[in-house]
Amino acid sequence: MARRPRLVPWRAAGLVSERQVSGDDVVRSTGWVFNNQKGPGLTLEEFVATGDAEVGSYLTVFGLRSPDLDKQSLVEIGCGIGRMTCAFTREVGHVTACDLDAGFLERCFETVGRFGKVDRLRTSRVTDGKTLDLPPNSADITFSYITFQHCDPDDALELTSEAVRITKPGGKVVLNYRARGRGDAVLIPMSKVVRGLFSVPKLGDWLSQKRIIARIGWQANRLNPDEIIGPLAPLFSSVEVWRNPKSNFAGRGAITQSFIGVNPHHYWVIATVR
Ligand SMILES: C[S@@+](CC[C@H](N)C(=O)[O-])C[C@H]1O[C@@H](n2cnc3c(N)ncnc32)[C@H](O)[C@@H]1O
Repeated sequence: MARRPRLVPWRAAGLVSERQVSGDDVVRSTGWVFNNQKGPGLTLEEFVATGDAEVGSYLTVFGLRSPDLDKQSLVEIGCGIGRMTCAFTREVGHVTACDLDAGFLERCFETVGRFGKVDRLRTSRVTDGKTLDLPPNSADITFSYITFQHCDPDDALELTSEAVRITKPGGKVVLNYRARGRGDAVLIPMSKVVRGLFSVPKLGDWLSQKRIIARIGWQANRLNPDEIIGPLAPLFSSVEVWRNPKSNFAGRGAITQSFIGVNPHHYWVIATVR
């Protein structure tokens, strides 16, 4: 496959995480991949606890706690080392964790082995960064958090269509995006240049392991809700856009909902698939 610069920083991050001895070491030394916090006192357990809290509140607030949740199937796109996957496996019967990096998927499996129900987990690699290797109509819930903002716009849109393709009629897509904010007029073009540099052999590999450069390269798109919902609207029977009460994002034809737990720069598209 041709070298895709957009995938380089995540592969680099995955490689860094693979080189650590344990998941605890990944959290202590590579906070830059996930939450920006680093330090010898951190543990994987605490890191997973942040995912537990978020999963618990999203399942409740977004109305996903159906009585048969433990018989349902959930696909998580962009699982990283399994911060949220552990909680999903405790709540949902069958979980498929997807990520473009094989190292993250291995770590995710280990993390769920320690803090979740590993017998409910399978993993699937998103080799090209835009296609899910999963059958159509196979998931009750397809979920993604802080992942689509890191994809080139066309990949983010393609992954969104893929999420809809794999979700059963009557099932839900629960997908998180980052909206355009102050500073993005500079940051997004800068990120494009950085990702261009990532495609230069050797220089790109070196640059992608530099924390600040990689963080700039990760900020790959700012799509508005209409760009997400518009092309897919005929495939949805209902659509909600969830935002922080202080934000004003909305989508044409979508019901607007707010929740204090949504990052003010983010919004969620939660749609029922026809
Ligand atoms: C910021 S992390 C978030 C991980 C997890 N959702 C969480 O909240 O802890 C983003 C993850 O998305 C993955 N990712 C980035 N681009 C992707 C793509 N095109 N397809 C699948 N996964 C992707 C990265 O490898 C990384 O693990």
